[in-house]
Amino acid sequence: MVRLLPSSSDDAVTEALRLLSNGGLVALPTETVYGLGADATDGVAVARIFEAKGRPRFNPLICHVGNLAMALRTACFDGTALALAKAFWPGPMTLVLPSAAASGVHPLVTGGLSTVAVRMPEGVARKLAADLGRPIAAPSANRSGKVSPTTAAHVAASLGARVDLILDGGPSAVGLESTILKPMGDHIALLRAGGLSVAEVEAVSGLPVRRAEPDSGIEAPGQLASHYAPHGSVRLDASAVAPGEWLIRFGATPVEGEEKAGGIIELSRSGDLHEAASRLFAALAACDRPEIAIIAVTPVPEDGLGEAINDRLRRAAAPRS
Ligand code: TXA
Ligand code: MG
Repeated sequence: MVRLLPSSSDDAVTEALRLLSNGGLVALPTETVYGLGADATDGVAVARIFEAKGRPRFNPLICHVGNLAMALRTACFDGTALALAKAFWPGPMTLVLPSAAASGVHPLVTGGLSTVAVRMPEGVARKLAADLGRPIAAPSANRSGKVSPTTAAHVAASLGARVDLILDGGPSAVGLESTILKPMGDHIALLRAGGLSVAEVEAVSGLPVRRAEPDSGIEAPGQLASHYAPHGSVRLDASAVAPGEWLIRFGATPVEGEEKAGGIIELSRSGDLHEAASRLFAALAACDRPEIAIIAVTPVPEDGLGEAINDRLRRAAAPRS
């Protein structure tokens, strides 16, 4: 059953906060489009976002912050970024910036990248992030491949009971996704055109805005074939492991030769795909050491989140250019 409450009600906001604090999914109105929100520091909650959207891959998500102090704890701002934030937040602008060292943002949110996308939205979404005390990760609240929702009814039709609560704040004022910008020193890269115009960005920053090259790899980092590959080579669908190889295991089934493996990393002993998704990037990072030549990975089922997990594993295993 779909749960829908008006965002103007204090009780509804309290309930949304309770759900977010406990790993729940809440669809939130923002001035651009409705977002599908979860605590950005909770990997299992973030995994549920991908599951609810039916996204076949782990594209990085936007972190919604409640105030400038939270933004500064999340990402590293240069002078340009700070000037843009002061001019256009809260508002329909997202900045892609280097992650702050102690941001606490889960790697599933950033897709394992060293950058993070940050936005301060207007209204109840901003209040919820401020009250939660942590950023809220939220993509648009639609099933993968469908248009972004601008009313609570759109969200209900697209996601239904896949979300724990929908806050209804009426139609989105802007109705277009946020403009995504990446400051590059002497210019600003436009990663996605959206609700804030390029002319306004150029006027405030004094820098030219350039559309990112379609194949620069910035716009859609998750699409790169060998993106986020560890140093060693990755062997998928392994049923045995040779001495010295490392093993990434899904489930609890023993693997032939595992007692001589260099190391074993568990994605989920109980075979829980949410848990496996939340541990995937950390598992690949732990194997990213020059002395580890081969990483064997046991099969992960292709259903639900397994599709996105396997997509990322196949990229890690792809031939390097
Ligand atoms: O208006 C909006 O931006 C809405 C509301 C809910 O805030 N959100 C939204 O999220 O449109 P989503 O997930 O549908 O789009 C986020 C975009 C994706 O294209 C993603 O690749 C990009 O942001 N992105 C996120 N992190 C990135 C990063 N570190 N580097 C480059 N692109 C990034
Ligand atoms: Mg979207």
